[in-house]
Amino acid sequence: MSSFPVTRLRRLRRTGALRDLVRETSLSLDDLVMPLFVAPEALPNERLPGLVRHTVDSLVRECDELVSLGITAVLLFGIPEEKDEEGSGAWVEDGIVQQALRELRPRFPELLLLTDVCLCEYTSHGHCGVLVDGEVDNDASLDLIARTAVSHVEAGADAVCPSDMMDGRVAAIREQLPQAPVIAYSAKYASAFYGPFRDVAGSAPSHGDRRGYQMDPGNVREALRECELDVAEGADMIMVKPALPYLDVVRAVRDRFDLPLGAYNVSGEYAMVKAAAAAGDLDERAAAVETLTSIRRAGADIVFTYWAKELAQWRS
Ligand code: PBG
Repeated sequence: MSSFPVTRLRRLRRTGALRDLVRETSLSLDDLVMPLFVAPEALPNERLPGLVRHTVDSLVRECDELVSLGITAVLLFGIPEEKDEEGSGAWVEDGIVQQALRELRPRFPELLLLTDVCLCEYTSHGHCGVLVDGEVDNDASLDLIARTAVSHVEAGADAVCPSDMMDGRVAAIREQLPQAPVIAYSAKYASAFYGPFRDVAGSAPSHGDRRGYQMDPGNVREALRECELDVAEGADMIMVKPALPYLDVVRAVRDRFDLPLGAYNVSGEYAMVKAAAAAGDLDERAAAVETLTSIRRAGADIVFTYWAKELAQWRS
């Protein structure tokens, strides 16, 4: 019989209560944010239930259900009726996200309403900024990004989440909105795992890719520099995205910065597990809990995940 303390603890952990007592990482609904898509027309998605398009009406019903399940925060993405070169649907007063916010705000005073601030769902070319001579122009995009953030806050958003990765966008937003919390997607990688999202949002770039403004998957020190810039520009919370292939980045950012840290368990990470579960290769619920726990263990305070609703249902 071994008398090593770790072994003794492991033996004791066979009882559920002690296992819970000594678990180092918790996973609670309070730590999760549910992303939601709103569009002029609904688009169901049997295969990936977290990735459906709601209308404003069905979004209100969905939030009602989410709140009763114990979800405390949502992140809104909009898909406009029409896209154009500049992405004007992102900031117009009657834009889809602005309409949704005006309906949700008075109905759900306690629900945290976060908005994704980016142009890619609104531009006809699908890039996250405006094009000048066929290339994304960083500085010309900043004004439009800031304008979008202002319109979200005016419509009732609690905090804005710039995901465009233009340099200087946190400062541009901060200048216009000295008081609003800014949750910056600071280390956002040019990832293959955004596939299902781009299908739902209709935001795949029509030419080229996002490597000019999103990060190279090989880099971690660069992620720290990106975070440093966003913190200096006034971000209140920083984010790493995707999560699973970048858990080392989550850990490195956690160790370096004191601000609250989010990680985005993106659409492809969700779809992979769904597909494997549908094929009978693994148990979805266990794999989802393990996935989200690993992201928390790596150091994320908050996890953005399409599983938030299903997790709440499984637990209720
Ligand atoms: C918008 C944005 C994207 C995601 C979140 N915000 C797509 C992209 O950069 O192409 C992806 C989220 C996901 O895959 O779940 N810029």
